[in-house]
Amino acid sequence: MPGTCVIGLQWGDEAKGKLVDLLTEEHDIVVRYQGGANAGHTVVCNGQTWKLSLIPSGILRDGVTCVVTGGVVLDPASVIREMDGLESRGVSMGSKLLLSDRAHVVFPWHIAEDRLLDGSLSGGEAIGTTGRGIGPCYRDKVGRSLAIRLGDLYRPDFRDTLGHIVEVKNRLLAGWASAGHTALAELDAAAIHDDYARHAERLRPHVADTTAFLLDAAEEGKRLLFEGAQGSLLDIDHGTFPFVTSSNSSGVGVASGSGVPGRWVDRVIGVLKAYSTRVGGGPLPTEQSNATGEYLRERGREYGTVTRRPRRCGWFDAVAARYTARLSGVDELSVMLLDVLSGLDEVRICSAYEIDGRRVTQFPSHADDLKRAVPVYETLPGWGEDLSAVRGYDNLPRAARNYLDRIGELLGRPVSIVSVGPDREQTILRDRVGPRDGSAAPPKPWPRHPHPSPANA
Ligand code: GDP
Ligand code: IMO
Ligand code: MG
Repeated sequence: MPGTCVIGLQWGDEAKGKLVDLLTEEHDIVVRYQGGANAGHTVVCNGQTWKLSLIPSGILRDGVTCVVTGGVVLDPASVIREMDGLESRGVSMGSKLLLSDRAHVVFPWHIAEDRLLDGSLSGGEAIGTTGRGIGPCYRDKVGRSLAIRLGDLYRPDFRDTLGHIVEVKNRLLAGWASAGHTALAELDAAAIHDDYARHAERLRPHVADTTAFLLDAAEEGKRLLFEGAQGSLLDIDHGTFPFVTSSNSSGVGVASGSGVPGRWVDRVIGVLKAYSTRVGGGPLPTEQSNATGEYLRERGREYGTVTRRPRRCGWFDAVAARYTARLSGVDELSVMLLDVLSGLDEVRICSAYEIDGRRVTQFPSHADDLKRAVPVYETLPGWGEDLSAVRGYDNLPRAARNYLDRIGELLGRPVSIVSVGPDREQTILRDRVGPRDGSAAPPKPWPRHPHPSPANA
């Protein structure tokens, strides 16, 4: 069975793009299957930096097909900008890029709604979205009656459908804007139609039934690489709701987003930063709003790829990561940005929470409970050495190896890949640990310290 998945196990930006680019060498097809232009994936190779958003991070390698499936919400102008940017730097799209005709299309009203509803109208703490129209586009997809898919742009009734939706959206937006005491310009259906018709012509050679394409490819034995966007803790169903994105960004989203059955995947790699970051609102139990947090932010250059917002930083949270490693069915771990921790006298790993005086190792299902969680830390010795030139696991300082071993132990999965810098080359690949035929012993269970749900509190 030919598939590999790369899934972020934290709140996004775990350096999935770097890992996908690296693994592309062993695959024929790279698949983006959820999210949209909220993603910002960085690849650094041959001294050049590439920022990818909707286009899969496999695009920089020859002979690889990059597929954006129907589970993605697609902003045509954004894809075209990205294509132009890549082509201007010598990366030709040719027939390498396929876009699903089932992908739902992001329109200007989605972006307007995103900005209106996540701000003054939200009532409570803002989610702090990327403002790319992601949530509103998924909302229309699920609502069905106001949705347009990429394939619809080529149909004769596109103009009429668009006209009807714009009429409804103008009324809805005017209501929301007046409730928020702001003014919004009316949407102009004819202008939007012309823009999107133009975009559709540009994208036409790339639009395909990607579900059929991927099923054929899997049956032919092509090797598929699924590139997760965001992270498992931002998953709409399993993340820190409501401070999440609007798609299944944990491992559970691969089959529904791509149309490829989960049984075609035989390797799930969970990607983790060696510490925690989060951009936007919502609980981050191990957050360090102090000199340590600043140290991590500056050394890790923790500023959003999409919005340039400073990322909130903190210690590694093994309670959260163990939850997502299990949820996403992870076989092995790839620990990224380990080099950032150099120079700290000691490093900490959160291995339990205290919530209302109770010790808990089960990740709480409610964001309010997580907000009250006080991390219980294990403190390990730090290391001073610069790791950026290390290429062998055994050449890492003992303290760094101990740190990684402890993460592997707490998460019950081996650390098979370690990243010590942004470049492709700055990677330590360990021998694959253990068989992948299901005969390996299941991960060791943790002592059970359940978090009470309201029903049994
Ligand atoms: P993604 O969204 O998961 O693909 O991650 P981002 O690209 O948003 O953020 C990861 C950042 O870390 C990027 O700027 C990468 O170039 C950088 N990066 C990746 N791996 C390493 C590493 O091992 N060390 C350091 N210092 N930076 C890294
Ligand atoms: P990559 O793929 C980090 C966060 C936003 C916000 C929340 C909802 O680069 O890891 P949205 O615009 O999706 O409705 O915002 O999710 N978020 C990300 N954070 N990395 C990402 O993607 C993210 N995509 C969305 O900051 O808190
Ligand atoms: Mg990112």
